[in-house]
Amino acid sequence: MKRVAILISGSGSNMVRLVESMTGDHPARPVLVASNDPSAVGLQKAAGLGIATAAVDHSRFPQDRAGFEAELLGPLLDASPDILCLAGFMRVLTPKFVAKFTGRMLNIHPSLLPLYPGLDTHARAISAGDSEAGATVHEVTPELDSGPILGQVRVPILPGDTEQSLAARVLEQEHRLYPAVLRRFAEGDRSPLML
Ligand code: GRF
Repeated sequence: MKRVAILISGSGSNMVRLVESMTGDHPARPVLVASNDPSAVGLQKAAGLGIATAAVDHSRFPQDRAGFEAELLGPLLDASPDILCLAGFMRVLTPKFVAKFTGRMLNIHPSLLPLYPGLDTHARAISAGDSEAGATVHEVTPELDSGPILGQVRVPILPGDTEQSLAARVLEQEHRLYPAVLRRFAEGDRSPLML
């Protein structure tokens, strides 16, 4: 059975979908949900689902990404994860941290990568006049939002869409995509899943 740790920063809706998916004949189980924000609503949701939680407040480490990561690694390594999922985790990780989980760390990003890495993806897709948006699950490598693509889902951009309406349409599909990709990944299948 593969052990899965999940890093979140906010509401944790993707995390909940991942946790709920790991039952029955699924080859993985959730072992830890951790956050850089002790007040992240997702931590309470994880605890409610019976998952161990940890929080390391990144604001205690101004200008010290390495110090923050060193503290985060404590509970994380204690949980001995085989797979680390970033799910709405809003801190950039250093190459040193990423190297500890090479080939074992996934992220979900709300765009059709390689389009729109970084922030404000929905606003950028709308103002570019794109007719489609979507989400991507990829392997995490030291370069932000650039690792090998493990799965993608597409949604239309509709006339009159706002950043919020598009984000909601994409998030609904993120909830389908991420559990499906995690399951395949845990089974050793890294071929891209195109939904
Ligand atoms: C998702 O859109 C994710 O792709 C982005 O932040 C959002 C997180 O939502 N990076 P949640 O915390 O999973 O509800």
